[in-house]
Amino acid sequence: MDESDVERLIKISKERPLLPETYVPWNIDPIASDIFLPEVLNSLQGLDIYDNLTDRQKLDLGRHEVVQVLYSYGWGEGLFCVFMSRYMLSLQPTDVTYRFLLRELIEEYRHQEMFAQTVQHLHGQPLKPTPLHSFIGKFSTKYLPHDYLFMGSLAIELVTDTYGNYSRRDNNVYTVLRKVFELHNIEEGRHIHFTKGLLQQYTQKAGYLKRTAYSFVVLFNIYFLRTMYVKKEIFERLELTNPEIIYKAAFNNYKQKFAQNCLQNILEFVDSWGGLNRATRWAWRRLLDAKI
Ligand SMILES: [Fe+2]
Ligand SMILES: [Fe+2]
Repeated sequence: MDESDVERLIKISKERPLLPETYVPWNIDPIASDIFLPEVLNSLQGLDIYDNLTDRQKLDLGRHEVVQVLYSYGWGEGLFCVFMSRYMLSLQPTDVTYRFLLRELIEEYRHQEMFAQTVQHLHGQPLKPTPLHSFIGKFSTKYLPHDYLFMGSLAIELVTDTYGNYSRRDNNVYTVLRKVFELHNIEEGRHIHFTKGLLQQYTQKAGYLKRTAYSFVVLFNIYFLRTMYVKKEIFERLELTNPEIIYKAAFNNYKQKFAQNCLQNILEFVDSWGGLNRATRWAWRRLLDAKI
């Protein structure tokens, strides 16, 4: 990526900051017809059981699941901030990468504050990541080399971007949420631009083995994020009978829906640098149901 491009991104970040305090109309309450998550992104729509839910249960399902989404974005971005801070210690303050990452850190912290405020605004009770999620998150932040971490973070940025697009384009979604996703979409668009440029440098130099490893990092990051959304406890909160059975059905349903609706741009990205190869295709199919 051209240095002048990065300078331009730094300039935009400074001159046109998007502040959640003023950008999001926090004082607007939901109206009767509002929903919290587009149906295409909830775990039960598409199954017979969804048609038997009351309107209240449908609304609450969306609310609980969007809270998980917001919580996991905040958590994922928090991990990435830890990594960026560590990585920046090896750079000079005059480096363009250093200066861009500093802007990104400022924005990512604002996003985390915005997500936390939204969770609170929705009276959400986020369900914690599993111990395995926690372990992988902390381990990778601590020990993975920076190129792998950028790869992983880009994967997460691409998923959040896709989710944001569905939510902000659906006029039935509660205004506060649409504005939250809109803000995030604009700033992540700038980050994606930078991260993609950086990764192009890495992938140009990478041989078959490294591309394979990058592909697995992206795959695991997406799997990691996707499995944070669908939770058994949510079906218990909705007072559905047999929450365990419903959880399993929802998990599989959501796996397919996610593959259909959210994977396209990620697969194109991974394919663009040869990450979909013989060693990785099977895992993409198996874990994410990718049609490749
Ligand atoms: Fe963000
Ligand atoms: Fe970002």
